Amino acid sequence: MSNTGCKHIVIGITGGIAAYKSLSLIRLFKSAGYEVKVTATQHALEFVTPLTIETLSQNKLYTDMFEHGHEMDVHHIAMADWADCIIVAPATANIIGKFANGLADDALSTLLLACNKPIFMAPAMNCKMYAHPAVQQNMQTLQQRGVHIIDSKSGFLACGVEGKGRMEEPEQIFATVCQFLDGEQTLKGYKALVSAGPTYEPIDPVRFIGNHSSGLMGYELAEELARQGAEVTLVSGPTHLSCSSHINRVDVKTAGEMFDQCMHYGPAADIIIMAAAVADYTPKVTANQKIKKHEEGLNIELVKTKDILSTLGHQRREGQLITGFALETENELENAKGKLQNKNIDIIVLNSMNNPKAGFNKPTNQVTMIDKEGQLIQGEAKSKAEVAKEIIQFIISKLNK
Ligand code: CTP
Repeated sequence: MSNTGCKHIVIGITGGIAAYKSLSLIRLFKSAGYEVKVTATQHALEFVTPLTIETLSQNKLYTDMFEHGHEMDVHHIAMADWADCIIVAPATANIIGKFANGLADDALSTLLLACNKPIFMAPAMNCKMYAHPAVQQNMQTLQQRGVHIIDSKSGFLACGVEGKGRMEEPEQIFATVCQFLDGEQTLKGYKALVSAGPTYEPIDPVRFIGNHSSGLMGYELAEELARQGAEVTLVSGPTHLSCSSHINRVDVKTAGEMFDQCMHYGPAADIIIMAAAVADYTPKVTANQKIKKHEEGLNIELVKTKDILSTLGHQRREGQLITGFALETENELENAKGKLQNKNIDIIVLNSMNNPKAGFNKPTNQVTMIDKEGQLIQGEAKSKAEVAKEIIQFIISKLNK
């Protein structure tokens, strides 16, 4: 694999035995024509020497945040700006924990917080540490923020036991990063709008009508669009998810607020995907004070919300490609096709309700994609990240028509 246009890689090395393998990683990138700078923690330097790193990278090693007389004064900021991407390999439980929790007490952890470029981390640690819920949760947090975790492998570990925790081989890390950097950014120059998550319709100051949507499908779609180079706005209902810093995230609570934001960003968008589970009804009035309990029960009058997808579909400008979702429990295909037509959109993604691995509040999904010419593609059950890739590929194939 060769470097088309010189790209800048920062390799962060932390203190694990796999640090010796990061030397091969430096060589692989240098041989392919990348410019490489390295930052290593003090613990990493117990395993590999500054001289070896500097000889291989042909650049000065950065280890100290407060070094004087350096060519770059605030070098964690300068390095973050210089880098096209950062690879932390090996990534110990410690650096994963620090980054997930926003701690910055040395050159590498500070650099990571200052960086808004793609970040890859290749964990390496003892299998019990790897399996610890704290480490797992930290990795999940980082992934949700858009960090690419190049997962560890199972095998014989340096501590003498067998299990999951070996760092991925340098050749594979190199291939993954190159594929990402050199990957076709098919959607460069396109603007995209995605809606995600539930909406909360307030009954009084403490109660609302909501639903179980986690927002994950919409977030994965936004990430995949951004990975393909699109400029993405994500209008999100209340969720616990986070997204990459290069996505313009707009938080809303109610269907009305979501409508307003989508109307604001919709006209400029070339690709629109409405994945939110928008409430169809909202209380006619929201009580100013908490509603007290009465013997006779309570009736709440609900009024219809505005259909965002349908409004965008009927106001569409030429060149826009609009995708909606359908969740059906009966006459699935027929109802989904009906929505495609009635809402005047290009693609409808039908969430299967018959598969226990699909739907609301689950990490996996299974969808059927139908376009207005009648093309139908039935996907397999897989992670929502993979389903997002499948949907975006389908959308790209329609754009190129
Ligand atoms: N949608 C929307 N605004 C609404 C309701 C729905 O943008 N007020 C969008 C959803 O984001 C989804 C699609 O419309 O992309 C279909 O939502 P769904 O709930 O399946 O269909 P509805 O049109 O609400 O019809 P019904 O609930 O009767 O099936």
